[in-house]
Amino acid sequence: MKAGLLLLLLGPTLGFAAKVSLSTVERITNLATLSNKFIVEVEDASDIPSKRALGTVHEQLYRSLRERKISFSVHKEFDTPGIFVGASLSLDDVADILNVEGVVAIRPVRTFSRPIPVSSKIVSPGDPGLPDSESTHITTGVDKLHARGIRGKGMKVGILDTGTDYTHPFLGGGFGPGFKVAGGFDLVGDNYTGLNTPMPDPDPLDQCSGHGTHVAGIIGANPGNEFNISGVAPDATIFSYRIFGCTGSVPDDVIVDALLMGVKDGMDVLTMSLGGADGWTEGTATVVSSRIAAAGTIVTIAAGNDGSSGAWFTSGPGNAINAISVASSDNTVIPLQSLTVSGVAHAPIVYYDTFPLPVEGTLPLFVLSNDTTVVDDACDPLPASTPDLSRFVVLVRRGTCAFAAKLANIAAFGGNTTLIYDNGSGFGAITVGNFSAALIQADDGVFLAQQFAAGAQIFVSFPQSGAGVQFPAPTGGLVSTFTSFGPTNDNFFKPAITAPGGNILSTFPVPLGSWALISGTSMATPFMAGSALLLLSVQGRSIAVATGARTLFQSTAKPISSSMTDGDPLQTVTQQGAGLVQVFDAIFPNTTLSKTELLLNDTAHFVGRQKFSVKNTGKTAKTYTLSHVPAGTAAGFTAGSILPNPGPVPLTTDYASVVFNSNKFTLLPGQSHEVVATITPPKRLDPTTFPVYSGFIFARSGTESVHATYFGVAASLKNAQTIDNTDTIFGVPLPVLLDSQGDVQEGVVNYTFVGDDAPTVLWRQAFGTPLLLLDLVSPDLKFTGTLNTRAPISFTTPHKGGSFAKVPTIGPILQLPWLGRNDEDQILDNTVLLANSFANATKIPNGTYKILLRSLAVTGDPTNEADYESWLSPAFGIFA
Ligand SMILES: *[C@@H]1O[C@H](CO)[C@@H](O)[C@H](O)[C@H]1NC(C)=O
Ligand SMILES: *[C@@H]1O[C@H](CO)[C@@H](O)[C@H](O)[C@H]1NC(C)=O
Ligand SMILES: *[C@@H]1O[C@H](CO)[C@@H](O)[C@H](O)[C@H]1NC(C)=O
Ligand SMILES: *[C@@H]1O[C@H](CO)[C@@H](O)[C@H](O)[C@H]1NC(C)=O
Ligand SMILES: *[C@@H]1O[C@H](CO)[C@@H](O)[C@H](O)[C@H]1NC(C)=O
Ligand SMILES: *[C@@H]1O[C@H](CO)[C@@H](O)[C@H](O)[C@H]1NC(C)=O
Ligand SMILES: *[C@@H]1O[C@H](CO)[C@@H](O)[C@H](O)[C@H]1NC(C)=O
Ligand SMILES: *[C@@H]1O[C@H](CO)[C@@H](O)[C@H](O)[C@H]1NC(C)=O
Ligand SMILES: *[C@@H]1O[C@H](CO)[C@@H](O)[C@H](O)[C@H]1NC(C)=O
Ligand SMILES: *[C@@H]1O[C@H](CO)[C@@H](O)[C@H](O)[C@H]1NC(C)=O
Repeated sequence: MKAGLLLLLLGPTLGFAAKVSLSTVERITNLATLSNKFIVEVEDASDIPSKRALGTVHEQLYRSLRERKISFSVHKEFDTPGIFVGASLSLDDVADILNVEGVVAIRPVRTFSRPIPVSSKIVSPGDPGLPDSESTHITTGVDKLHARGIRGKGMKVGILDTGTDYTHPFLGGGFGPGFKVAGGFDLVGDNYTGLNTPMPDPDPLDQCSGHGTHVAGIIGANPGNEFNISGVAPDATIFSYRIFGCTGSVPDDVIVDALLMGVKDGMDVLTMSLGGADGWTEGTATVVSSRIAAAGTIVTIAAGNDGSSGAWFTSGPGNAINAISVASSDNTVIPLQSLTVSGVAHAPIVYYDTFPLPVEGTLPLFVLSNDTTVVDDACDPLPASTPDLSRFVVLVRRGTCAFAAKLANIAAFGGNTTLIYDNGSGFGAITVGNFSAALIQADDGVFLAQQFAAGAQIFVSFPQSGAGVQFPAPTGGLVSTFTSFGPTNDNFFKPAITAPGGNILSTFPVPLGSWALISGTSMATPFMAGSALLLLSVQGRSIAVATGARTLFQSTAKPISSSMTDGDPLQTVTQQGAGLVQVFDAIFPNTTLSKTELLLNDTAHFVGRQKFSVKNTGKTAKTYTLSHVPAGTAAGFTAGSILPNPGPVPLTTDYASVVFNSNKFTLLPGQSHEVVATITPPKRLDPTTFPVYSGFIFARSGTESVHATYFGVAASLKNAQTIDNTDTIFGVPLPVLLDSQGDVQEGVVNYTFVGDDAPTVLWRQAFGTPLLLLDLVSPDLKFTGTLNTRAPISFTTPHKGGSFAKVPTIGPILQLPWLGRNDEDQILDNTVLLANSFANATKIPNGTYKILLRSLAVTGDPTNEADYESWLSPAFGIFA
């Protein structure tokens, strides 16, 4: 489970059709949890003076561990009573920890690694003409707040990220009291990778990564710059908590440390543009974020960029129950460049590049093929008769082979500036490597090629300034396809809301170019953080305002369609949350709702009767009408199979129906009315697709409207098969035991555990599990696995007892709570390279064994054998 900063990362995707070779499986333990590193939470004894008298709670914990002869080493201590008290420890024996007095929870430390921001584009200082009319501020009403002088003055935001380049002139140009970036801390140092020892220092400067600097600008960049943009809350004060080094990952104990530091520093808002696929609400950073939010600091967290992985693929810590998990919408305009044509009459031609191609002067155009329907233009080496192309701008048609292949064939004849015209695939960003080339639209290319074929002499030039255009984005305003889909495996509402995050221009470290255009839920998250700062600056800092912020933002958000086509359903709320944030409406509402998330849960835990109240906070009496507006029903899985539908998750128009206690009511100023909504799920949905139905309940009065958002699952999640028992991905049925060569183990093999000589357990989670167990068992144990059934293990050999508790195991190898599902393109599998020791590090005696893998069903009872799927490995020998 790889995770990290939530920039949009374009990567190769793998369809179901492709079987993956077993040889690609790395023989390592690839779970995102750090082996032997745990966060132990202890009782908060602050209000028990007698306990504090016995020394700190930490000393008491260590004393108890020593008494139990549990060896440990301490990495970090946490002591924020009311939020989190505990320590991150390396521990050999976790089985016994929960019996230690005062210990309330133990959670594995997981890491969040960082992808490289391939979609980011940098503008050099002084580079002219990148237009952005602050479209993101206009679509969300931020411009109206700025016009009233509301800019977040006096509010403080803590950004947990790669640091901030505060030397940037539009981020205040300095660090410390009096500057925009007034505080913070570097918890890790430049050289930190997530695996080595952090080297903290007080200076959170980021001049090597840029992600945190971009995030900071979205919140707080000063206006008056060459791009005429500003942050959402440019008068707010920023504290920068640097938790990533220049490269690598971060474990969640560092995240927790930074969060608690932010609380101590009095931040009004804490924001995290990071995360990784998780699915549950139970990770340490997730739980701590949620508690901080409940205690009155607004916490905004990225929803994740795993949209292509389909439903039930939410991110931690974005899953934090009380935090605001943020989805991204695409900017309504894309800033592009245009070129000028002469010799023939034609308006300037838009080309898909944020910055002008660095070509000087006016150059003749050379067209490779006069046939405007050619399908494989320049896919083969060009004919020998081709002239020296270095004097020309070359025009080539898209299609058949990679852009780089065409450009290499053109370069073989000296061609170094190329226009590629679209073939109907669509006008969008393309990858051309280091070649100087850009995509133009099909019509423009056809025009140029036809004129050339007719003998016209055509010249083009690339103005280096003043030729920027605001191209209407074909997906402008829609939810960015990369946004991760919810809900969480425990049916919480993630993402909560959408903010602009696709194609966002903001500050970048000065040494790296000062400005950059980046996409990701990483960019949507600071937009929400800035919006929260504006809210607090108007409504005042208080626990009530902070804990009510999400409700205000959700009630006033604007639902988003699933496409640009009229009549298509609204996007499922499991990707858009409550809709696109409308910051002005949230801050100056004239009607409020007591509750905006109506969580119906699954069929086994169905809550169809939902109540919330509508309050008239305006100055006149108003009559409200209630209405139900459904969103598309999302089919998470392929019917009758355990394969998730990749994103965009297919939608249907099978809608729920809603009945109200009264459809219409009148409220005087200050009065409230309790709405009782009885929601009936859509009929005839196929439960094997684990369909999620959703929608909005609007209260409208005149032009004013607010809404609550509901969703439910038309199946019981307990029936979701958690372990993949198919051969879909690897061509061999899973789970499987691999030998030291990485091949499926044949017969009984003895392992020495010297060098590479050890077996690997390979499995995939078809759905998340609350508890995954690997135990060592006797080779005499025989049974048929219960992988796709809900039944007790049926033993085919006599054994004592039949209940789960009595399955005779020799000892635990791995116990993993809250494991998320695997996906098909980024995260192929779970592998555990076995060691010759139990989970408690005690050596396993020489002998022959099997591994028993068990995975608990969602909402399953951990003490009920029939709620686990199980698999028994072939026998293998440990002789080490
Ligand atoms: C960081 O690593 C570089 C290269 O290995 C080294 O030169 C430098 O001294 C390190 N910096 C610190 C603060 O350890
Ligand atoms: C700068 O943006 C503001 C709105 O934010 C707009 O009113 C103004 O016209 C813009 N100025 C230029 C030079 O584009
Ligand atoms: C291609 O490169 C040559 C040599 O550097 C240069 O003279 C020429 O102007 C370039 N042509 C274009 C179209 O950029
Ligand atoms: C355009 O080119 C792409 C890439 O080769 C190809 O997949 C697509 O079918 C072509 N489209 C048309 C309309 O020819
Ligand atoms: C395309 O048309 C132009 C102008 O008629 C001609 O000079 C050129 O040779 C033609 N190119 C090809 C590849 O036929
Ligand atoms: C849904 O029901 C399950 C089982 O009772 C529970 O664990 C979970 O918290 C519920 N989810 C919500 C959002 O209430
Ligand atoms: C609420 O009413 C005030 C005063 O009439 C008005 O300025 C404001 O725009 C209204 N808010 C909304 C969200 O319409
Ligand atoms: C494994 O080792 C045991 C004990 O040395 C031996 O009896 C057995 O034959 C070995 N099995 C294989 C397949 O080498
Ligand atoms: C470690 O676990 C094994 C298997 O459960 C058990 O037999 C052994 O006693 C444990 N060792 C210690 C030191 O607790
Ligand atoms: C276990 O087997 C290994 C390899 O055959 C041997 O070196 C070791 O002494 C054995 N251990 C015991 C306790 O018998």
